[in-house]
Amino acid sequence: MKKKFFASLMAMVMVFGLAACGGSSEPAAEGDTAEGGAGGKIGVSMPTQSLQRWNQDGSNMKAELEAAGYEVDLQYAGDNDIPTQVSQIENMIAGGCEVLVVAAIDGSSLTTALQGAAEKGIPVIAYDRLIMDSEAVSYYATFDNYKVGQMQGQYIVDALDLENAEGPFNIELVTGAPDDNNVNFFFGGAMDVLQPYIDSGKLVVPSGQTEKAQCATANWSTEEAQKRFENIISSVGYGPNGVKLDAVLCSNDSTSYGVQNALQAAGYTADNMPIITGQDCDKPNVKNIVSGLQSMSVFKDTRTLAEKVVGMVDAIMKGTEPEINDTETYDNGTGVIPSYLCDPVVVTVDNYKEMLIDSGYYTEADIA
Ligand code: GAL
Repeated sequence: MKKKFFASLMAMVMVFGLAACGGSSEPAAEGDTAEGGAGGKIGVSMPTQSLQRWNQDGSNMKAELEAAGYEVDLQYAGDNDIPTQVSQIENMIAGGCEVLVVAAIDGSSLTTALQGAAEKGIPVIAYDRLIMDSEAVSYYATFDNYKVGQMQGQYIVDALDLENAEGPFNIELVTGAPDDNNVNFFFGGAMDVLQPYIDSGKLVVPSGQTEKAQCATANWSTEEAQKRFENIISSVGYGPNGVKLDAVLCSNDSTSYGVQNALQAAGYTADNMPIITGQDCDKPNVKNIVSGLQSMSVFKDTRTLAEKVVGMVDAIMKGTEPEINDTETYDNGTGVIPSYLCDPVVVTVDNYKEMLIDSGYYTEADIA
């Protein structure tokens, strides 16, 4: 076991060119490692427990890392509290974590904290969201975020039959946290699909709010999205008996839920809801897809992402090369970060059973 530890330590030294990795790298106890895992402590920093997906990400990561023989320090940063995330990461670095896996709240707020990781030769994997302006980031694992946006935009194009229908159609736009780098890809991907129809006049945005900053929702908050949409409804005069609203682009499920609340309060029902997009397949949203309040969501199987990241951690710990499939797309300001992009899938009422229940992601009871 000792021999194995020193072999992996030497591999780390070779890879990162530093004399030591992590603070208290104790050899893993006999029996600690399963499936040939290298052992050692891994820090996993998640942004919030208030959204379902991050709870799933955290628990999947913990379970899979432990199954691979690692000790896991899993921390959630309150409810998207940046100072909490910074101090949790500092504690992970001081506490002997040998690799950090971080889903950043604010992609640009971790530069100083992660300098400590770089100084100690602790590799950092950006999880789902890219960490900006930090040389410490070694790898990035996520879903194809641009494709997520394109899928949402294309869903609206197809549902309104924009190629053939005369229009014009009214649409409103809702995206996520401005400090989340993913928003550039979600909103950018969707707008690349929708903009030509806006330019030609087939799609109209009656609120006039088309800039990313105007469409952003702090912390991806359901309440914030609801508030903004209530204002849009009253200022434009949308309603089942008022101005017709044909579609709402929502970058994810938490914001989509807020929009649906606002629309229901304005008298909309499953029978006359506009087309509304989402992302994550959160349970309340899947229920609304089944009942007709939401049109689609983008399914990002967090089990797949966790599996890929555990594979990355394991490769790093064993001194081998992690699997990557993109070396062009994600520049964090210090250069392009080698990435693995998982595939997102469109979920609607027609395929949710196959995608979410038959795959074992949810039980029938979860979304009943
Ligand atoms: C994004 C993430 C989405 C969604 C959102 C809100 O970064 O990619 O899946 O969950 O944050 O948490």
